[in-house]
Amino acid sequence: MSSGGTKTTLSVIKADIGSIAGHHKAHPDTLLAASRVLAEGKKKGIIADFYVTAIGDDIQLIMTHFRGVNDPQVHELAWSAFKEATSVAKDLGLYAAGQDLLSDTFSGNVRGLGPGVAELEFNERPSEPVAIFMADKTEPSAFNLPLYKIFADPFNTAGLVIDPKMHSGFVFTVLDLYEGKAVDLSTPEELYDLLALIGTTSRYVIKYVHRKDGEPAAVVSSERLNLIAGKYIGKDDPVMIVRLQSGFPALGEALEAFSFPHLVAGWMRGSHFGPLMPVGLKDAKMTRFDGPPRVLGLGFNIKAGRLVGPTDLFDDVAFDEVRRQAAEIADYMRRHGPFMPHRLGPEEMEYTTLPDVLKRLEGRFRPFDLGYRPIVKHEDLLE
Ligand code: F6R
Ligand code: MG
Ligand code: MG
Repeated sequence: MSSGGTKTTLSVIKADIGSIAGHHKAHPDTLLAASRVLAEGKKKGIIADFYVTAIGDDIQLIMTHFRGVNDPQVHELAWSAFKEATSVAKDLGLYAAGQDLLSDTFSGNVRGLGPGVAELEFNERPSEPVAIFMADKTEPSAFNLPLYKIFADPFNTAGLVIDPKMHSGFVFTVLDLYEGKAVDLSTPEELYDLLALIGTTSRYVIKYVHRKDGEPAAVVSSERLNLIAGKYIGKDDPVMIVRLQSGFPALGEALEAFSFPHLVAGWMRGSHFGPLMPVGLKDAKMTRFDGPPRVLGLGFNIKAGRLVGPTDLFDDVAFDEVRRQAAEIADYMRRHGPFMPHRLGPEEMEYTTLPDVLKRLEGRFRPFDLGYRPIVKHEDLLE
């Protein structure tokens, strides 16, 4: 997959390999262990630069290199970093040590093994500003709404109207996570079709956004752990890379999309809707009801593969009100307790105890004359 070394690749690979006091916050020693492995990889010339951080219980490996996406050496390096971090996590007795590493052996690519991956290969512009958004206690489709706003909503992104390089719009690649299919939808022409899909956040995820001239603009990790493992492992806390400025959305337009703490699936036991709260590094930990779901934003410049930064994008008074609003929504949602729509619908509870409860009660359901014959499509039923 290498481009022959001319293009720069930004790879963000993340995993939960255990955390302190519950699914709460990665331990600094695990970040150090991962950093040591990446430093070694940088010395060997596998990667050009790196930055290691965390949101909640997820360690984020931010790496630059010239090897293209899905590079076996880069993926192996990330895998080794997580393995080392896991062994520290085990030594410290951290909670759920090794949680996201679903396999004992590396097989050329971390995709499908547990870690989440977002990679973008591009020709560096003279100045290459990027934002990396990392969320915890939610799922990849949590970025559907912000991405729509950033790249398709002129009420969010003034550049769609004003900047001649953005005026013709963007192409969204949407994945159907159940069927393993992808579709490209062009905006503004196919805006309504796009919304028809991406509003179904349990199934459709925006994977890429490209400019109409083919320039890559954004990428999201799309791994769904439960669909990989066949059982509930944890939510698939996503990461997203967005290229910024001069022909892409301005930094402020990308951040603007997070000024609305929209409801996302995840939170406690991956089974509840809650508001996505934008936070700075100091608040990048999960507390109330294991949340609320949070998103961290780091800004970088990339120069000849070097990562310049980061700047902590949501660590600012301008987002205080959003956080306050998110806290208020969290209160409101929490008061529903185990009721929908706070608790996810039955289709999304598939990998929890709900099917067991239904099975246990199966024999106790008796016929009841509703007075009509209900027509229910098979796929609407939880089996
Ligand atoms: C959600 C999450 C947590 C855990 C919860 C129970 O993604 O990580 O909310 O689901 O803390 O964890 P266990 O089952 O490990 O006690
Ligand atoms: Mg965890
Ligand atoms: Mg997590």
